[in-house]
Amino acid sequence: MKTFRTAFLSLAVGSLTLAAAEVDVSKLPPPSSKKDLTYENDIKPIFEKSCFKCHGPEKQKGKLRLDSLAAVFKGGENAPNLIKGDSAKSTLVHSVARLDPDEAMPPDGKGDPLTKETVGLIRAWIDQGAK
Ligand code: HEC
Repeated sequence: MKTFRTAFLSLAVGSLTLAAAEVDVSKLPPPSSKKDLTYENDIKPIFEKSCFKCHGPEKQKGKLRLDSLAAVFKGGENAPNLIKGDSAKSTLVHSVARLDPDEAMPPDGKGDPLTKETVGLIRAWIDQGAK
């Protein structure tokens, strides 16, 4: 059934949907139970450490910047990367959880993968409305 659905979607709407249909969101680490998460206090420091060198003031790989909340919402070439209130549907979360090795962020060999705890923190922040 799953194979049928994937094939159907790929025929119907092309490779982007195929890529989205291929990730298994049941493999995502659970959202953190921390409350009142904000971009400034909790998320920006994570992006600063692991992402800014490719998605900051100097480089914008995939046309994406992560150094302000507005930029995160604007997204990159395949925006939106983040869906407020729905971390499981947010491609940014799929990337940092490395569900698809080809879309993993940071890319393989280009920085330490985020821990499950950190991915859970990003998930909880998005689920809480990404403020
Ligand atoms: C060494 C460089 C590098 C680092 C570090 C890096 N990225 Fe990327 N990122 C890329 C490149 C290159 C692309 C575009 C091509 C691709 O998808 O592989 C990209 C694309 C993306 C996209 C898709 C944008 C779009 O709309 O197409 C997202 C989301 C993303 N990165 C998130 C992150 C996050 C979050 C981090 C930090 C945890 C991060 N990246 C760290 C190089 C990097």
